[in-house]
Amino acid sequence: MVNGMIYYGADYYPEQETEQDIGTDISLMVDAGFNAVRMGEFAWIKFEPREGEYDFAWFDSVISRLGEKGIFSLVCTPTACPPVWMIDKHPDILYTDGRGVVRPFGGRRHYCYNNAAYREYSEKIAEETARRYGNNKNVIGFHIDNELAQEGTGRCQCAVCKNLFRGWLEKKYGSIDNLNKIYGTIFWGQTYSRFDQLNPPVKSIEPCGAERIETFFDNPALRLDWERFCSDSIIDFQNIQVGALKRHTDKPVTTNTTGGWTNGVNYYKGCSTLDIVSVDEYPSLRTEDLSATGFGYAFMRGIKDNIKKFWVVESSSGGGLGVWARQGVSQPYPGALTQTAQHAFASGAELLTYFQFRTFRFGAEQLEASVMDIDGIPRRRFKEFQKISAEAKKWTDLLESSSINNETAICFDYDCLWATAIKPFNAHYHYTSYCAKLYRALAKNGIGTDVIPMDETINKYKFVILPAPIIMDCRFKKILGDYVKNGGVVLSTFLTAIKDENNSAPRERVPAGLTELFGITVAEGDPVFDKTRAQVEFSILFSGKPSLLKGANELWTESLEINTANVIGRYADTFRAGEPFASRNDYGKGTAYYVGAGLDDSLLAALTGDIAARHGLEAAPFALKDGMEAVRRVKDGENYYFVFNFNEKSVSFKLDRMYTDAFTGEAVSEDATLAAKECIVIT
Ligand code: GAL
Repeated sequence: MVNGMIYYGADYYPEQETEQDIGTDISLMVDAGFNAVRMGEFAWIKFEPREGEYDFAWFDSVISRLGEKGIFSLVCTPTACPPVWMIDKHPDILYTDGRGVVRPFGGRRHYCYNNAAYREYSEKIAEETARRYGNNKNVIGFHIDNELAQEGTGRCQCAVCKNLFRGWLEKKYGSIDNLNKIYGTIFWGQTYSRFDQLNPPVKSIEPCGAERIETFFDNPALRLDWERFCSDSIIDFQNIQVGALKRHTDKPVTTNTTGGWTNGVNYYKGCSTLDIVSVDEYPSLRTEDLSATGFGYAFMRGIKDNIKKFWVVESSSGGGLGVWARQGVSQPYPGALTQTAQHAFASGAELLTYFQFRTFRFGAEQLEASVMDIDGIPRRRFKEFQKISAEAKKWTDLLESSSINNETAICFDYDCLWATAIKPFNAHYHYTSYCAKLYRALAKNGIGTDVIPMDETINKYKFVILPAPIIMDCRFKKILGDYVKNGGVVLSTFLTAIKDENNSAPRERVPAGLTELFGITVAEGDPVFDKTRAQVEFSILFSGKPSLLKGANELWTESLEINTANVIGRYADTFRAGEPFASRNDYGKGTAYYVGAGLDDSLLAALTGDIAARHGLEAAPFALKDGMEAVRRVKDGENYYFVFNFNEKSVSFKLDRMYTDAFTGEAVSEDATLAAKECIVIT
């Protein structure tokens, strides 16, 4: 926060502009009411045009010109783009993909994060940057690289990486016999006699982004270790820069994660050495449902759960000529920019910078969306940025003095993400999307949710959801059992604990080690395809007026053998008619729910709403229509609901009582209406 206002601005690329254009841009930023920019992540060639010859003078001038106008800079280390002189001298720095193809110079992120020479160069440039700006009053912090592991750069297979991987395995398993035993390499006669015989798994098409890792020939235990090794290597690369920066500055250090939508870095580990978590979150400016974005923010909030704040360092601005439309970035519906900013701030963001300030003329992202159109003429979006800047001043006090206090959490776990990507159980299943679906179901009920790791953090919440936790270690099973014994409520879905931490399957009843907690055993599991879909029936759990909810299963389905649990859902047709798929087990002072079938949005909403009501969990006391979300913040024991209408039309809804508009002080009657894309804050 600065001068009583949240940080609000854009990513700026002055290395591409003339002096004169920089002047024009700064005036426009001032007019827009911006007070923050992020700069430098691709500008190494300008900072160090020849090895050891640094030129920061041009950047000093931009930072101070911005500073004079009250605009603060978030300074990036430029390691996303190693310059051509470096590649000429050390071609081995180049990234090698899973097919053995060396990525040539000519794009970005063309480096191996394990390469010793590159690590040294990166440390040096980070150190130079921090030495120069570590105490600069116009600099608000430092940002490392750009989207580590993004665009298929998180699984380098060069000779250096292969050798390091073998060493990593040796360190982990001690002896090759131990590795053979744990991996079960006797399968297909893959038994090894030395660590140097092991190779990183190969895929003919390299995984990237949310794409599945899916492999067939690889040992799943080896493949999971490869994911962990790559993630650890990238984090080491990042941490060398964290160290270099921190030698010269006390300002916060961060890097831009890509939230839940990529799978190259375990962000719980990666962000542990950073002062603030940052994310690139591109909300759709046309969608009627921003729950995926809400899930992304909840995930960021949960990574540093002691501060529950984060920075959004890239966000949708609209504009440009839409040539980069593959990102799904459309021109904003009027009000959408205001609303997406409010949504970010209400959800815990304390900085928001758009990608990016002025439409690019050149290069791969030519004519990309941006705050200013290519001709620099302020149009309707500009007026909206101005309005947001003005309103942000109004929101700041409330945001600063209130906090998010959710009682419900979804556990998001990297081993589960990787394991389901390595061996998908249904081609249509995507772990992160399923987590987001559960977030949406809870949001429909007005239940605020955090996203947290699968560890003792669960003890801070009353209700915890484990979406298809396919891998679970003994330590967490114990934590979970104690949590429920002490009064916690857990809902775990299909495929719970079918594998151990090695991505191997224990010879045990499933959910392995948890049959007592859930009071059931899974008898049979089955992927759901269009032809095999079954109708399912849920008995309403608590209302006193027994009623049945009906719907269909999807993705995966299980038949349960009931031990101590109560049945709460059964199949209504197919050869499974009458068999249970969902259960509730009272255990100690708490309750463990198990739902063995993938369910559609409305059944998930009914189920989670029901559980919340039964256990008296915090939820907005008014019903939300489709395309709405309520973010609850608490100030001095009072609830403040930021109620969003993401729809492109107005929505009328019923409040449980009269409220007060937190900003105007006016009464808000029970019959409330929100205009298209409107947000109201009520208390
Ligand atoms: C991000 C990336 C930016 C830019 C943007 C395009 O993932 O960090 O540099 O490429 O996508 O919208």
